[in-house]
Amino acid sequence: MSKNARITPDNFKLYGVMGFPLKHTLSPLMHQAAIAKLGLRAFYAALELDSHSFLKLMRKKRQLLLDGFNLTIPHKQIVLPYLDSVSREARAIGAVNTVIRKGSRWVGENTDAYGFIRLLRETGWTAKGKSVLILGAGGASRACVYALCREGAKEAYVLNRTVAKAKALCRHFQKLFPKSEIAAGALNPDRIREILSNVNLVVNTTSVGLERTDKPVIADKDWPAGGPIRLAVDLIYNPSVTPFLRAAKQAGWKTRNGLGMLLYQGARSFELWTGKPAPLEEMRKALLHGCESRLSL
Ligand code: ATR
Repeated sequence: MSKNARITPDNFKLYGVMGFPLKHTLSPLMHQAAIAKLGLRAFYAALELDSHSFLKLMRKKRQLLLDGFNLTIPHKQIVLPYLDSVSREARAIGAVNTVIRKGSRWVGENTDAYGFIRLLRETGWTAKGKSVLILGAGGASRACVYALCREGAKEAYVLNRTVAKAKALCRHFQKLFPKSEIAAGALNPDRIREILSNVNLVVNTTSVGLERTDKPVIADKDWPAGGPIRLAVDLIYNPSVTPFLRAAKQAGWKTRNGLGMLLYQGARSFELWTGKPAPLEEMRKALLHGCESRLSL
């Protein structure tokens, strides 16, 4: 195509992420790196919209110029009624993080569970027959619990500050996964100590640790000794080492932050939109570069 060819919806694709707030998103960096590597005529934009503006846009979605988009807080659940169809996985998780335009139809997907499982696989950890502890009961927790039970976890404990939310989450997933034992509880030190000694995966899905002044969600003294198959994951990736991960490492646990999940969920979204294999290494480099620039600010 000549450089001067007119841009049309057929020869140029527009993607993006919508959420609020969106100042810290690394998704545009990661997707632009993938677009550049594959030489696609496309652009990925960050669209910061509050819930009111987002819903207004979704009511007029037939006029939307986007070919696909990601959703983040607080739009992942409120989008559901506006889509023409929603994948089985997204419906089970109760959240959509990827929307794909198929002709005049808008299809909802969830790639967070996939991203989380790929992150675990990278470490060699497998869920089958294992006991796991998930801290938090929000949207990210739902994707993790779904993924772990689908992969055959034997027991999943979900502890949350608001216990009623953890209970509702457990009831929902227990129906879907009758072979796993899913139990809810309060996020208190006694409960954490008791469960932590019996699991070999603990995942922090709460936002505790995002601020440098946050007290760790698990007190340093409450970590039991780790070992080669005990893994602690914090879905937070900036800062790259939270107090949660620092203490886990000191106790001898393997550790991972959430950058891998961000990468793999994004790669899967990219593949759903473009039908092309995502260039993972370029996307990973862009994310690492983005994190480093943030840290040096
Ligand atoms: P996400 O989509 O990232 O999971 P979310 O749905 O807003 O975001 O969920 C945030 C999670 O962090 C919730 O489990 C929340 O606990 P509550 O359900 O009790 O609100 C948890 N969280 C946020 N701040 C917290 C804090 N200071 N202490 C403990 N948990 C906290």
